[in-house]
Amino acid sequence: MASCPYSATTAPFDDLTELDAVGAPVDLDEARSWLEMFFAETQPRGDLEQRWRAIEADVEATGTYAHTFEELEWGARVAWRQSVRCIGRARWQSLVVRDARTADTIDEIAAELADHLRFATNAGRIRSTITVFRQDGPAGPRVRVANEQLIRYAGYAEPDGTVLGDPRYVDFTALLDSYGWQHPSPPSAFDVLPWLIETEQEMPRVVEVPGGTVLEVPVTHPGLPWFAELDLRWHAVPVISNMRLRIGGIDYSCAPFNGFYLVDEIATRNFGDVDRYHQLPAIAARMGLDTTSTSNFWQLRAAVELNTAVLHSFRTAGVRIEEPVAESALFSEFVKREEAAGRRAYGDWSWINGHIGSTFGRAWHRYYDTDEPNPNFWLDPAARELSNGHPSSDPLTLF
Ligand code: ARG
Repeated sequence: MASCPYSATTAPFDDLTELDAVGAPVDLDEARSWLEMFFAETQPRGDLEQRWRAIEADVEATGTYAHTFEELEWGARVAWRQSVRCIGRARWQSLVVRDARTADTIDEIAAELADHLRFATNAGRIRSTITVFRQDGPAGPRVRVANEQLIRYAGYAEPDGTVLGDPRYVDFTALLDSYGWQHPSPPSAFDVLPWLIETEQEMPRVVEVPGGTVLEVPVTHPGLPWFAELDLRWHAVPVISNMRLRIGGIDYSCAPFNGFYLVDEIATRNFGDVDRYHQLPAIAARMGLDTTSTSNFWQLRAAVELNTAVLHSFRTAGVRIEEPVAESALFSEFVKREEAAGRRAYGDWSWINGHIGSTFGRAWHRYYDTDEPNPNFWLDPAARELSNGHPSSDPLTLF
């Protein structure tokens, strides 16, 4: 019976009663090449062939195998190292890996997510962190967080066609409403969305983000006092929660991870984009710029002040953040080190250089290898749709 786990009337994962039975067995070639990489890069104690025999035997008997903590830790770090869209990968070896593979219930999962936020936020000295939940079974995920990120702001469609809050999440906010979310009243432009969590045994359920776990920074400008009147704020930590981590043939559909922000993710994109908070016209008007023509670079000039304000606000608040030219130089160092180590320099040029002032950065001046080998992070279409508020109708095709 294929039914939608996101309609409140059906049990989740109806078909997945035999998750530990042999289904589609793990790809042994992928497992083997991962293991060789792990041994070559980390020189762990123990013998490769002995570990391989154990993996083969497990796959033969059950269709799958489990990573040791060391394999999981290294695999998650390599997945970051090979993520083509991330400019911050120089820090890949510092990733803190939290092993939550024994968390089973929605309550246990929510407690882990809250612990992740507290640990990663670290009062502003943000730590790059991933929390890995149960690996997928042969028929799919056993744990799922529907949200795109652990911290996002609600979007409310107003009768006059405008949106209060983040327009990106209007449909997801409506989905949460259909699951009984009681949003703050009156609603504001920065209401933190609750989590929508589902497990193999439990129906999808809305869980509020516990109070005190979300650090936010109000936006002010070092030289323009009126900036505070825009009433902008943003959360300190971006925790991506809808991507699948794949290591050695094993999928972890629930493995939320975070780094810290590059300023223009918040300023240029989240605040500046026309289909997000759309602040550039108001800022340009305050700056006295003519917005009727693009020939005076009013968008760019407003965006520079907005980036200045966000960077200043985060730094004044003691919250870790980076600016693009420095980050671009650091990325180029990373690329140099990768190539010196005999590895390929993976990267999607448009993402690496998609920030304000990108031509001033060193990363702009060459192309990168666009292959995406595993270990890596994947955004599956169904997971993306779900986090956009559009669940698939069939649980077996969700991932
Ligand atoms: N661009 C996303 C946002 O604004 C965050 C993506 C991840 N960014 C990062 N610095 N790790 O929320």
